[in-house]
Amino acid sequence: MADIALDVHISPERLLDDLRSDVRLGMTAAPKWISPKWFYDARGSELFEQITELPEYYPTRTERALIEAHAYDVAERTDAAILVELGSGSSEKTRLLLNAGIKHGSLRKYVPQDVSPTALEGAIEVIAREHPGLEIHGIVSDFTDTLQNLPADGSRTIAFLGGTLGNLIPEERALFLADIAQALIAGEFLLLGVGLVVEESVVVPAYDDAAGVTAQFNANVLSVLNERLNANFDPGQFEHVALWNSDAEWIEMRLRARTAQDIRIEDLDLDVHFDEGEELRTEISAKFRKEGIEAELVDAGFRVDEFWTDPESRFALILASRTSLGQRDDR
Ligand code: SAH
Ligand code: AVI
Repeated sequence: MADIALDVHISPERLLDDLRSDVRLGMTAAPKWISPKWFYDARGSELFEQITELPEYYPTRTERALIEAHAYDVAERTDAAILVELGSGSSEKTRLLLNAGIKHGSLRKYVPQDVSPTALEGAIEVIAREHPGLEIHGIVSDFTDTLQNLPADGSRTIAFLGGTLGNLIPEERALFLADIAQALIAGEFLLLGVGLVVEESVVVPAYDDAAGVTAQFNANVLSVLNERLNANFDPGQFEHVALWNSDAEWIEMRLRARTAQDIRIEDLDLDVHFDEGEELRTEISAKFRKEGIEAELVDAGFRVDEFWTDPESRFALILASRTSLGQRDDR
């Protein structure tokens, strides 16, 4: 029987408080916005899994092929006893890393972390069944507020896959990378998956698929607000928009009001007006160039050890390590 623990570092009450303050800020801003963190209720996590299987959504299968090709290099190079994964979701690709780490003989613990308890519980169940000898220590938390509390009873690799780094705004991203570097000590690694800049004709359909699954994923955030904050959005009254911002080199997902409408968010005692055609920004998904992401990693305090990419240069899997000593050097 696998050794499993699940720590809840963010209580449902605190999460609801965060949602309230985020929504108040974003819905009263011009232009209006909401953080992509709120996409992932049980339905949102399920829709994301469906997205990963769409023919247009190349990031997941491209990253999986990179992990398949390099998982054993990662295990050998890092010799990690603990694999921490931030925003782990279904942990589906991670299983390749776990297999390689176990085969290599160093890996004994997996620490998946996610804000979505349903995604985390599902992933833990599958992995515990596959690897009864592996210690599993799940953490429900916000990854921007997690790094100082990570288990440290062995050398660690922190994985941050899927391109989720691109969902942070650049200022958050710089702080977050620096925080990860600070949380590591010499001899520990970051394994980072990021989307690369590709032609607009490839990236836009990945966020605006023919079957309309991404449109459902996008609109689901309004159902989250209805359910959790007692709001009265009609998701059908908003149109899915995915556009490539060539200056910022990111995809922006928005929800565009089909008609003028007044929304009541009861639990915030807030009335929000949308003009016809007004847009709510729900996500950015930044794509990177090799030099740019390498420079960001160096600025944050990393050395880039490996930069693996696919033949079409659509996605990169990066192995980076600390350049100087970390905070835990008093161990
Ligand atoms: N890493 C997986 C899942 C990517 S989907 C993959 O590569 O397929 C993004 C995941 O990050 C979701 O499971 C979501 O719940 C989680 N997430 C988003 N924002 C988060 C935050 N601020 N803190 C913790 N998890 C977050
Ligand atoms: C989780 N994240 C990396 C996905 C992305 O591609 O930015 C979320 C997503 N949004 C729309 N489709 C997928």
